[in-house]
Amino acid sequence: MDAGPLLIDRRDDRVVATLHRPEKRNAIDQAMIDALHALCDELEREPRTLVVTGSGGSFAAGADIAQLRERRADDARRGINAHAFIRVRELPMPVIAAIDGYALGGGAELAYAADIRVASTSLKIGNPETGLGIIAAAGATWRLREIVGDARASELLLTGRILDADEALAIGLVSSVHPSDGLLAAAHAIADRIAANDPLATRYTKQALHAPRERHPEIDGELQAELFESPEKHRRMTAFLDKRAAR
Ligand code: COA
Repeated sequence: MDAGPLLIDRRDDRVVATLHRPEKRNAIDQAMIDALHALCDELEREPRTLVVTGSGGSFAAGADIAQLRERRADDARRGINAHAFIRVRELPMPVIAAIDGYALGGGAELAYAADIRVASTSLKIGNPETGLGIIAAAGATWRLREIVGDARASELLLTGRILDADEALAIGLVSSVHPSDGLLAAAHAIADRIAANDPLATRYTKQALHAPRERHPEIDGELQAELFESPEKHRRMTAFLDKRAAR
């Protein structure tokens, strides 16, 4: 484990990153963004599944408002959090957000950047930015829409309403809900399923999922063409067929 705003537990097939400013409800400040970039750098070079979670019963209660208050127009244009979350989103292997408690503002946007979201029963997720005189500029205006649809995203972003676990599950914003003490185990169970599959096929599935509509079906064919030539595909299919033949 490294000390700092991001605790990192490295394993062979996954990395667990814990947002760690519990005294500030893990509010995302520049140091945490820098640590996320460093982690992305590592995972771009050495692809593994990433589980993102938070310390002390919260995911993240937003971008750090003390820093936000001092930021000016040029800072906004740099998209400090937006670019970090895009990088998280584009990591080669899947990203799982394990969301306990508050996921507000930038915290919610980091969760929206994950491929898979699981939550605890204490979830409180949403974007109260307009109440602070700003917009949710780190992904909510496009990603929330992609996840829950235009009507729901509009209602949530235009009102700043916060959802609990039941409602987040009902609209498909999270895939499953668990007691807080079982949340990380649920995220690991998903990472275990991913780890049992072919990593390259998983990476290519993510690439195809993220490709814009106009690149389909060509991109699927290109990615599949590479996999059809891979020894791992042949090995896995032969193992399946041999097992059936033996039965
Ligand atoms: N930025 C900076 N500091 C934050 C923060 C944020 N987004 N969210 C919480 N904190 C700090 C509080 O200022 C407080 O610090 P202090 O102890 O030095 O005063 C500490 O974290 C604990 O917060 P507190 O409000 O006392 O905890 P709570 O459990 O009563 O309430 C929240 C938790 C999340 C409801 C409340 O902290 C909150 O509303 N935070 C802001 C949420 C928000 O608007 N996020 C969007 C930002 S874009």
